[in-house]
Amino acid sequence: MSVHISAAKGEIAKTVLMPGDPLRAKYVADNFLKEVKLVSQTRNAFYFTGKYEGTPVTIGASGMGCPSIGIYSYELYTEYEVDSIIRIGTCGAYSTALDLFDLVLAEAAASESTFARYAWEIEESLIPHQGNTFDKIKDTAKKLGLPLKISNIHSSDIFYRKNPGTPVIAQQQQCLAVEMEAFSLFANALHLGKAAATLLTVSDIIPTHRFISADEREKALIPMMKLALESVK
Ligand code: HPA
Repeated sequence: MSVHISAAKGEIAKTVLMPGDPLRAKYVADNFLKEVKLVSQTRNAFYFTGKYEGTPVTIGASGMGCPSIGIYSYELYTEYEVDSIIRIGTCGAYSTALDLFDLVLAEAAASESTFARYAWEIEESLIPHQGNTFDKIKDTAKKLGLPLKISNIHSSDIFYRKNPGTPVIAQQQQCLAVEMEAFSLFANALHLGKAAATLLTVSDIIPTHRFISADEREKALIPMMKLALESVK
């Protein structure tokens, strides 16, 4: 048991898949895992542990934003001996270089967030993915013939803003897409010597206002979920 996760020691697998949304964690557990057990539901942030083709895996929610995933990932790494966390989420595309449904694997996350500086005295505003999980996902995508866009991404603290243009840091670091969590996940993994990757599905194209509807979302995310699961077995 940790401050925000009620699972017993040993009930969390070495690899954790983290969507933002608890119901998405439930969807993956219900549809893709066997021998599933709900191991934590504190704050309705569901964590399920089960087996994917024989390999133990946990899937649990990060919540939204760097502070939230910062809490869950830290407790998973330090109190449950988790080795690797794969964030699976959605992102907005800053340009039409990406299309709806594209899969994006984050090379590094850029952010204006003060999380890394004040938590770990990491001064960089661009933090790379950590460990070999990124390579496993990349190799698995190749094996499955799934096209993958590899790019820096922007982890923003802001969803709604006055100026709709691409923020300066995203331009400077050549970020094709924006989400809100990878930066603090990568910062925690860097500080703790753990592995972390972020795999995203493009859910909206910011300049053209095209987006995947709420109804389409569940189905749209299946290739990403499968790729993440295949890469851990
Ligand atoms: N901004 C931030 N996070 C997101 C977006 C966005 O436009 N789309 C999906 N996640």
